[in-house]
Amino acid sequence: MPLSNPSSGAGPAADFPDYAGLEFSVDLAPSHPRGLSLTNPVIIASGTFGYDGYGRGLTPEMDLSRLGAVIPKTFTRHPREGNPEPRWYPESFRVARETHEPVMLNAIGLTNPGIEAGLQQLAPQWNDWDATVLLSMSGESVDQFGEMAMMTRGVTGFEAIELNLSCPNVEQGDLFSYSASGTYQAVDAVKRHAEVPVLAKLAPNVPDIVPIARAAVDAGADALTICNTIPAMTIDLESRRPALGNITGGLSGPGLHPVAVALVYRAAQAVNVPIIGVGGIFTAEEALEFILAGASAIQVGSANLADLWAPFKILEDMRSFLGERGIADVKELIGAVQE
Ligand SMILES: Cc1cc2nc3c(=O)[nH]c(=O)nc-3n(C[C@H](O)[C@H](O)[C@H](O)COP(=O)(O)O)c2cc1C
Repeated sequence: MPLSNPSSGAGPAADFPDYAGLEFSVDLAPSHPRGLSLTNPVIIASGTFGYDGYGRGLTPEMDLSRLGAVIPKTFTRHPREGNPEPRWYPESFRVARETHEPVMLNAIGLTNPGIEAGLQQLAPQWNDWDATVLLSMSGESVDQFGEMAMMTRGVTGFEAIELNLSCPNVEQGDLFSYSASGTYQAVDAVKRHAEVPVLAKLAPNVPDIVPIARAAVDAGADALTICNTIPAMTIDLESRRPALGNITGGLSGPGLHPVAVALVYRAAQAVNVPIIGVGGIFTAEEALEFILAGASAIQVGSANLADLWAPFKILEDMRSFLGERGIADVKELIGAVQE
């Protein structure tokens, strides 16, 4: 089930200076008995790990052990074919990046083989990767979230679970992360069964992220990922047709970045679990803005689809930024924005 939108990588990362002694590790689940210790704060976001969301297109030179973690595409309870084409706007995120197009939309529709196939066929392969892998999953009901969490028990290959809460609760209609109660129920259902740390990934388009972030933490979320894409649409004037087969889709990339930074900042003021910032990170500077706003780690999404080397380059550029300024530990920058 390819997601398409292949783009060519820009080649191996150049030789970067080795800032020996620079402390880059972060723990994203300090209150969980297992913890979630990453060697550095750069993570590949769910749905953007290779062209199919599960690593297709990555080459052996792309040494995943150099990254903090990778998150394969979300699994749902049952397999999903996804939405009608076109699923992308513009057709190539690589071209969009090169032409400074600020709008990147997708409507993939959670194409995935289902969690059973994921746990039985894909997770065993993750054991062989020299990488920290987080499992992403999404349910259509509170019971389904709990059921899927039960299914993960005893399975190896991943160190934590990220809950994609940008999915409709079929019992109530709204997305789980549109309300504090929906968020609480989904996280609680998973925390009752999961053996590994649980990250709650929230939607950006809510009136106030604070009560939702607090609900996730109250339900036991070990960390928060902020944020998923924002609903968006674009229309071709000549054909008068929407650009996406699904009519609407999710905005990622440059347009999302300042929105996500503000959400991370707001949430970081309100909760005391680690936050992972995600939205429009293409450069080390854009990543470090999230850290200053209060994120302990960041995820790179659309940038991967423009260039599979992007997270490696961002990581090395972050190292250079800190090294050149004599900042010994990335943790010094977490929440260090001057107001
Ligand atoms: C093509 C595509 C597929 C995505 N699929 C998923 C997914 O399966 N699960 C999920 O939680 N987020 C998914 N996302 C959202 C990203 O993980 C990320 O939250 C979002 O794109 C914002 O980050 P970015 O601006 O760096 O892309 C997807 C994003 C894109 C562009």
